[in-house]
Amino acid sequence: MACRRLLLLLLLFLFLFLAVPCLSRSEADILLQFKESLENAKGLFTTWNASVPPCLGYRSFWEGVICANGTVRGMNINDRGLSGIIDVDALSELPLFRSFSAVNNSFEGDLPAFYRLGALKNLKLSRNKFSGEIDDAFFSGMRSLKKLYLSHNNFEGTIPASLIISKRLLELKLNDNAFEGKIPYMKLPRIVFVNFSDNHLEGEIPQTFSHFPASSFQGNEGLCGKPLKPCIMPELSLITLIIVGIVVGAAVLAILAVIIILRQRKRADSEEGSQLPSSHRRTASVDLDQLEHASVCSVDSTKSEPGLRLTFLRDDRERFDLASLLKASAEILGSGVFGSTYKAALNDGPVLVVKRFRQMTNVGKEEFYEHMRRLGSLDHKNLVPLAAFYYRKEEKLLVADYEQNVSLAVHLHVNGSESLDWARRLKIVKGVARGLMFLYEELPDLIVPHGHLKSSNVLLDASFEALHADYGLLPVVNMDHAQEHMIAYKSPEYRRSGRISKKTDVWALGILIVETLTGKLPSGFLQQGKSNDADIAGWVQSVAPEDSTPEVFDKNMKGRTPESEGQMMKLLKIGLRCCEVDVLKRLDMNEALERIEEVRERDDGDGDGDG
Ligand SMILES: *[C@@H]1O[C@H](CO)[C@@H](O)[C@H](O)[C@H]1NC(C)=O
Repeated sequence: MACRRLLLLLLLFLFLFLAVPCLSRSEADILLQFKESLENAKGLFTTWNASVPPCLGYRSFWEGVICANGTVRGMNINDRGLSGIIDVDALSELPLFRSFSAVNNSFEGDLPAFYRLGALKNLKLSRNKFSGEIDDAFFSGMRSLKKLYLSHNNFEGTIPASLIISKRLLELKLNDNAFEGKIPYMKLPRIVFVNFSDNHLEGEIPQTFSHFPASSFQGNEGLCGKPLKPCIMPELSLITLIIVGIVVGAAVLAILAVIIILRQRKRADSEEGSQLPSSHRRTASVDLDQLEHASVCSVDSTKSEPGLRLTFLRDDRERFDLASLLKASAEILGSGVFGSTYKAALNDGPVLVVKRFRQMTNVGKEEFYEHMRRLGSLDHKNLVPLAAFYYRKEEKLLVADYEQNVSLAVHLHVNGSESLDWARRLKIVKGVARGLMFLYEELPDLIVPHGHLKSSNVLLDASFEALHADYGLLPVVNMDHAQEHMIAYKSPEYRRSGRISKKTDVWALGILIVETLTGKLPSGFLQQGKSNDADIAGWVQSVAPEDSTPEVFDKNMKGRTPESEGQMMKLLKIGLRCCEVDVLKRLDMNEALERIEEVRERDDGDGDGDG
């Protein structure tokens, strides 16, 4: 007995003896590699020795290494006179590495590629000799960042707008650098400390930072607004008075012109009914010229007003100004329920779609900016990325990419639907469902994350991949307008109980599936304003009754074989389960996506198609 116990103990001991160094060996190797590219590291790293593991529990045997639960969690190598290269790639191999602090050393050059450490919480590099511009998108993958200290370096260029993504940011120290330009608008809900002092920043301090003390902003000559002095116009001399007079005069003329145009447009809008883009092609030069004129004038007359230029939401995009966008040959693609849509091709640049919204006047500016940035940060294969927007109290422009194959509605109902064979339609439905699921995940606080899902808002790119457009707009559209026009408010639950639900977008998805398979235009959608759910439910009944046979499918849909019809029927049934009038019986988004993913182009060889 005793002998066996001894043997067991010996084995355990052997295991521990072998296993601990084995487990930590790779961490040690990684750290030693990290050390390799540092300079002046002699004195410090005597404890960095491969014969001892860096971490045991919370104890660190290697100076400067932070440990928890036996693994490396961070590094604090402040005040060491270090220089050389910070090997971020090495650090990225440590899966739980969350904190890097190298304050008061002699590192220089560009900010190292810390964006590779997407889960980093603390990055403290104050009091070094870093320099150069920081890419505007640098922080776009760093959602966990809590503390960012870059103060007392020589950074220049603008403050990266991608910091907006770091919603957990608590402390931001950028003071004592050479940052220039405006402080970007950032709404950081948890921020408790900022310091922008002693840079070359200018313009108005965003309202989201105005509760911080003046000592967070001092030493920037061009900075104004709360808590510093208000941004007022300089004293008017006679000449400036004359100039202001001329500009104001021009602005008044422009406003008069816009009023006349708007009157004319109102008349045109009352005739607008169809939502099918291509049926309304005409030239938009007059409208856009007027808008451009008005904008240019207002820019001149109120220099400090920030809302008069396009606000870009993506860092990877080419920048352009409103004037060049409006100068570009623009054509009206159509007028939907919100307003007109224009297509504008920049000089050998991308082709863009500009949508003009006039029913977003009830939402505050800050809230609008915040929501647009949120939408702009969404990135999914099946969403049309929102590139930029333009804000004015009475109208908004949203700028997105133009998609080559226009929309699902155009292919189904205008172009004769032959272009869409069964394989393409299935791909489109899958893309629509995936994009929608993504919206559910990314906008969990919106009851109806899409809100306006219909075939004319499903755009198709060159390879017939589906992309959602006009999603996530419910929070910024005026309520009365939304209730009258948006798809969510045509749902049976809204018509019956005045409520929309987490399954409302699923209902719209169901309608879209039925429409895609039958090639029939949902009748209830065409009527503006009052439609009752009987219309649409009745439409579903009429185009795809409970006991549907393959007869119901669009006659123009190519690629139908006996092997595919079973799968088509399966998809139709999913569509019908999605547009159940009874919310309780309706599938939820997860189930809907799961089932749609199971549909294949044709039954398998072993024929499990359930028809
Ligand atoms: C910000 O930094 C400046 C310059 O280093 C300093 O004088 C000021 O006190 C700091 N402000 C705050 C709020 O800590």
